[in-house]
Amino acid sequence: MSSEVRQSGLAQTPELSESLGPRGFDLMFDLVAELDLPPGSTVLDVGAREAYHCIELSRRFGFITHGIEPVRRHLGNAADALDALAAAEPEVAARICMQRASLSGWAYQTRVST
Ligand SMILES: C[S@@+](CC[C@H](N)C(=O)[O-])C[C@H]1O[C@@H](n2cnc3c(N)ncnc32)[C@H](O)[C@@H]1O
Repeated sequence: MSSEVRQSGLAQTPELSESLGPRGFDLMFDLVAELDLPPGSTVLDVGAREAYHCIELSRRFGFITHGIEPVRRHLGNAADALDALAAAEPEVAARICMQRASLSGWAYQTRVST
């Protein structure tokens, strides 16, 4: 048992052990693959940080990805990443849009064709 768990007084239950066994960072991509959405689908990443998921969703699935992120520093790093991506994989970068916004104060507008 770790000293942190001992100090917190938490018992090391099987349930706790399971919750401490994190799945890979790419789990989301496996879940997205199961949805079988076509290339060109539009996705929204709320809390897009430095655009990692936006980039991978565009690269792996051909999605149009919109990322919103309230932290300017993350957006600056995202812009750098997208600049580098545009040089290496312009077709992937062209499908990505990052915007400074917070979910709590943002109205997303889109048109749905039927
Ligand atoms: C775990 S990170 C997301 C990781 C990201 N999808 C990636 O590709 O690396 C969570 C992000 O949510 C952002 N966030 C926090 N509150 C938010 C809010 N109200 N609206 C939008 N984003 C928010 C944080 O600044 C942080 O960058």
